[in-house]
This record gives sequence, C-alpha cells and structure tokens, in this order.
Amino acid sequence: MTKILSENGAFPDQVLLAAARERGAYAGLRQAITESPQDVILEVTESNLRGRGGAGFPTGRKWGFLRFDSNRPPYLLCNADESEPGTFKDHWLLEHDPHQVIEGILIGAHAIQASQAYLYIRGEYTSLLPTITRALEEARAEGLLGPDILQSGRSVDITVVTGAGAYICGEETGLMESLEGKRAYPRVRPPFPAVRGFAGRPTVVNNVETLANLPWIIRHGAQAFRAVGTSDSSGTKLVSLSGCINRPGVYEVPMGYSLMQLLEEEGGGLPPGRHLKAVIPGGTSVPVLTADEVRSVTIDFESMRAAGTLLGSGGMIVFDDSVSMPQMLGAISHFYATESCGECTPCREGTGWMDAIVARLLDGHPQGDDLDRLLRIANNIEGRTICGLGDAAVQPVRSFVSKFLPEFEALIQNAAPSEQPEWQGHGHGPRTARYGPLEDEARRSEPVTGQPTYRW
Ligand SMILES: Cc1cc2nc3c(=O)[nH]c(=O)nc-3n(C[C@H](O)[C@H](O)[C@H](O)COP(=O)(O)O)c2cc1C
Repeated sequence: MTKILSENGAFPDQVLLAAARERGAYAGLRQAITESPQDVILEVTESNLRGRGGAGFPTGRKWGFLRFDSNRPPYLLCNADESEPGTFKDHWLLEHDPHQVIEGILIGAHAIQASQAYLYIRGEYTSLLPTITRALEEARAEGLLGPDILQSGRSVDITVVTGAGAYICGEETGLMESLEGKRAYPRVRPPFPAVRGFAGRPTVVNNVETLANLPWIIRHGAQAFRAVGTSDSSGTKLVSLSGCINRPGVYEVPMGYSLMQLLEEEGGGLPPGRHLKAVIPGGTSVPVLTADEVRSVTIDFESMRAAGTLLGSGGMIVFDDSVSMPQMLGAISHFYATESCGECTPCREGTGWMDAIVARLLDGHPQGDDLDRLLRIANNIEGRTICGLGDAAVQPVRSFVSKFLPEFEALIQNAAPSEQPEWQGHGHGPRTARYGPLEDEARRSEPVTGQPTYRW
C-alpha cells in the first residue's frame, strides 16, 4: 500500500533534521520554491487534495480564493488543535515526523505568498513542544525556514502557539480569535477568512494532515497523488482507530479502503467473543454507522456520504456488543454541552438540554416524551448557529437514537415511576440538576403531550 504520510515516521530518528533529509525531507520545498506560487496552487488543485480537518474542502480551490495584495499579505494557519473526540492522527504526525509538517507549511505559505505562518497546537499537546521546537530550530539553522529560504529570495517564518484548551479553538474563526488573544468565539461569515481573517488579513487555515501531504504531491506530481485512492477522494487517509478493537492506533490507508478490512487487518479484530455493534467513522461529530452499514462502506468522502455519514477527521471509534449506546451518547452529549462556547443561543441552551435529557434517561427518570423532545431540540439547533459545533452535537444524538431506538425505549420502559409529577421537577441527579433552570425555560415553551410521539 502506498504510504504518503507515514512512510518514515516509524524511524525513531526521523524527528532529527539530518536523518529526515536523508529520507527526502525538504526535497519538495526545494522544488516548490523554484516554482511560481500560481504553479504550486495549480499542482495542488490538480492533485484533488481535499482538506483532512473535517469538511473535505478542496485545498487548491481554497487557496485560489485569496487575492494577493502586497498591502495586506496573507497568513497561513496550520490547525493542530485536534480536539475532535477519537482523533489523534495530527499528534502522530507532529510527534513522529515534524519536518514533514514544517515542510508542508512552508510549501503552503509559498503557494499563498505568506511570509508568516502559525502552527496552532492544542493546549493539551504540551509533550509535543520540545520535538517541534527542536525541529523548527534545526530547520532555521539550515536555512530552510526564515529569511531567504534556500537562497530563493522567499522568506517564511513559522511561530508556534499553544491553544486555549477548548474544542471551539479548532473551528477556524475561533482559532483566529484565540490567536489574536481573545476568547475563541467563532466569527460570522462573510467576510470569509480568505478576505478578512487573522489580524484583518486574508488567511488560509489548513489542517496538519492536509499540509503534510504537500511535500509528496510536489515531489511525485498531482497525477501520482490522484492515482492513489478514488476518483473523488485522492491520496490516503490517516485513521485514528480506537474503542473496542485489539490494535488501536494510527493507520494510513488509501482512500477507498474497506472499513471492515481496516478493523480486521490493521485493527486486529474485536476482543475475543465480541461482535461488532457500531462505528463512528469521523470523530463524534458525524452520524454513527451500524454493523451492517460498516460492512459495505469504504474509507473515502463519497462512500461515507452515500452511507449517510461523513469521513470527518477520520477518528474511528469502534463499539462492540458490550457497549450501551445510550451510555455512549451520554458521554458524547456531555462533551458538546461543556464545549459549546455559548455564543449562539440554540447551541448554548440546546446542547445542555440534550445532555440533561440523555442523563435523566440513563438515571432512570425519563419525563414524558423525552425522545420526541430530544429530536425537536436537535432540529432546532441544526443550521441555526454561527459555527458547526451545534450541527456536530446534533449528529450523534439523532443517529444514536434512530439507529438504536430499542435501547433508548428500554430505558423508558424499565424506569421507576417518577417521584415528581410530569414537568414539575428540576431534573434528576447532579448532571441534570445543573441544567434545571434552563429546562424550565424549555418547559414553558413546549406543549405537554403526555404520550411519546417521536418519529426518528
Ligand atoms: C467545532 C469545530 C471544531 C473544529 N476542530 C478542528 C480541529 O481541531 N482541527 C482541524 O483541522 N479542523 C477543525 N475544524 C475544522 C476547521 O474549522 C477548518 O475547516 C479546518 O481546519 C480547515 O482545514 P482543511 O481545509 O485542511 O481541512 C473544526 C470545526 C468545528 C466546527
């Protein structure tokens, strides 16, 4: 199998510049820097590289939106926030092959004519900082970074910034706010970052894995990249595999690779005696797949979309038949409720309500038409927020309940009769109690039907 991103990361000395260069590091930069920025953009556009940060937007097209203006030179921001649950492949790249990422940032910066790039690293990834700092210092000492790169006349510097420890800091406009020293509230678009981004300048935000593909694309050419993968999804994908699987870890597979094959071969199968129940294929922000769906899906943008889900970040979480889906949803919903930044009302209030409802189902204290109510809240969040966090929070709720409905219905059927009359309580248990007053608001505005009416 072609390895584009992980070919050298297994060598322990790959973090050192000399060893990395012996294996070809910075050959792509040396070539790109002799080409015009427009030619580099053309090459990347032809390669059909699509963003690996979650949305899969074509990288060359994104760069093409920038209009160069010498009075307002652009910035390139490398997004290493990696807060999506179940995702740890950017960490792997930065830990094992930092020069590949640095080279990718430099090529990207050359393409968009930026002389300053930022590497925004998740606040919790402190253990990576010595490796990255050393790699940057080595590159700078060798003239690969900083003024007059490889005597080309081009200058690009990279500054490392550690994130603020919040999921929202990975959202591109939240990231910019955070980088400007402010609270990471996402920005309303337009203006789009390509027009007005970080510090008011045109800005491109790219994911670590996206940029790490660039050295290979420049060295081998767009057509070689397109030859790997499928027609719509070129190249490979780094997958973070975790959950009920014998060999969790980061694996690189060509786009179009069978998900089942990944579980059985790379992942070494499920624990003995266990059966596959479900897989979240792209971080918790995408709809879950049932075991039957997993059997027919491949790892690429189009197959995932056809199956009603998304490739997302490629954070794949495996559930076997020992897992309670309502409990998993409880953990996931709690994550979104605590990580909602609070800027948009539907997300701020709605994620808390969804968390509270799932928590009281789990606590054995369902109220009225709770499943119906969950769906209504989800529908009222989706598409009504500035950034994608609200939409992300909705996907697991909707897909878990609709695909594993009997497990949720069983919680209601087996619940002890409520000690409090319908709609009079303030929630149950410490988690629901926290949202009590917020739910009161919801209660006032919602009709009480008494009977479940959900249509998931
Ligand atoms: C709530 C939220 C969190 C995000 N977190 C990340 C992240 O940690 N890393 C990342 O690369 N993209 C993240 N994204 C996507 C970014 O906004 C952006 O689309 C991406 O960095 C663009 O890079 P790409 O085009 O190379 O994929 C997040 C989006 C949302 C809505």
